[in-house]
Amino acid sequence: MSIIVTGGAGFIGSNFIIDWLDLNDQKLINLDKLTYAGNPQNLINLKNNPNYIFVKGDICDKKLIDQLFNTYKPQHIINFASETHVDKSIDSPADFIYTNIVGTFKLLESTRIYWNNLKSEEKENFRFLHVSTDEVYGSLDFAAPSFNETHPYKPNSPYSASKASSDHLVRTYHHTYSIPVLTTHCSNNYGPYQFPEKLIPLVIYNALAGKKFPLYGDGQQVRDWLYVGDHCDAIRQVLEKGKVGEVYNIGGCNQKTNLEVVEMICDILDMVKPRVNGDTYKSQITFVKDRFGHDRRYSIDTSKIKKELHWQPTETFETGIKKTIQWYIDNQEWVKKVTGDNYHHWINKHYK
Ligand code: NAD
Ligand code: DAU
Repeated sequence: MSIIVTGGAGFIGSNFIIDWLDLNDQKLINLDKLTYAGNPQNLINLKNNPNYIFVKGDICDKKLIDQLFNTYKPQHIINFASETHVDKSIDSPADFIYTNIVGTFKLLESTRIYWNNLKSEEKENFRFLHVSTDEVYGSLDFAAPSFNETHPYKPNSPYSASKASSDHLVRTYHHTYSIPVLTTHCSNNYGPYQFPEKLIPLVIYNALAGKKFPLYGDGQQVRDWLYVGDHCDAIRQVLEKGKVGEVYNIGGCNQKTNLEVVEMICDILDMVKPRVNGDTYKSQITFVKDRFGHDRRYSIDTSKIKKELHWQPTETFETGIKKTIQWYIDNQEWVKKVTGDNYHHWINKHYK
């Protein structure tokens, strides 16, 4: 049986597919709409891999999903497909409602019909894994304990509200129809192939291009950073060993303020790619107007996944960020390709 991955041409999905096909000899179907965030070039090295099948399409297209289910008889569905940039959700929320809520609903509906027709052993082995986010829990004060899996939902942006809504649908399909679902809530990822609209790749891109890089507000917001390879490993563990119907929080145990993150990137760049005029990259840091409704702090309590599935991250922020910076330095062609006219249009509109 095969595995269907949605949104596999994006940042985390690409990393997941590369690792998965390295570790498994099983057909993998990547269903991706190829929005501005999806890039089939990320997976170009798989072009001769007979186990990799790419399908361009929308998770809202139920007819297409039904066809894929009937053709490939998947044992697992992993739903990464999503609109993901918080600032874009504040600017224009409609696509977030469409893909994140309606799309997840359509996938679940196709899954319900497909799963009901499976034989009993296949039914038992089937999993629908929904990749969600820690942002559904809302924002924490500095001294508040980290989010655990029973933390109440309090989403603050159209993005996080749409993810929260999709989580509720996924939960219902288990409770009402007994579909074997799993949900993960991960903290901020970083690593290769991340689109340079998000903080870390944006800062690296701007730094190398000699541009100012924008820090919102006072730069004291806290995120819990996780290297993408560790997130992909956690998803594999949840898929293999997670208890059906359960939710797992995934985090890096690397809480840092945005200013700390950006200064660390500058320090590393000062060493590995010193500026020609000898200035530090820190002189490019610029404080700009804050994001509307900006969440102050996210922090993940990973004790459940550590205790029950024996997962823990392997990268520290120091090791992961060095690898990431080197990847962007070595892959300037990739960066150039993804930063075309539409990208600059967004940057100009948003930051001016
Ligand atoms: P991304 O924006 O890099 O990629 C999203 C992918 O989904 C793209 O390839 C895009 O083309 C595809 N897509 C969008 N709409 C689609 C549709 N209607 N049908 C099919 N494909 C569609 O996202 P990412 O950062 O890789 O995030 C992947 C998942 O992980 C998302 O569900 C996100 O909410 C979750 N997540 C991300 C982070 C993070 O820090 N990036 C952290 C926690 C959870
Ligand atoms: O927590 C998980 C979430 O992390 C994912 O669910 C989202 O898909 C992902 O985009 C990310 O959301 P954030 O809003 O935390 O990530 P972003 O990289 O956009 O911003 C990280 C922090 O940096 C946040 O506090 C806002 C700040 N920031 C961001 C940008 C783009 C800046 O200060 N300046 C910027 O230009």
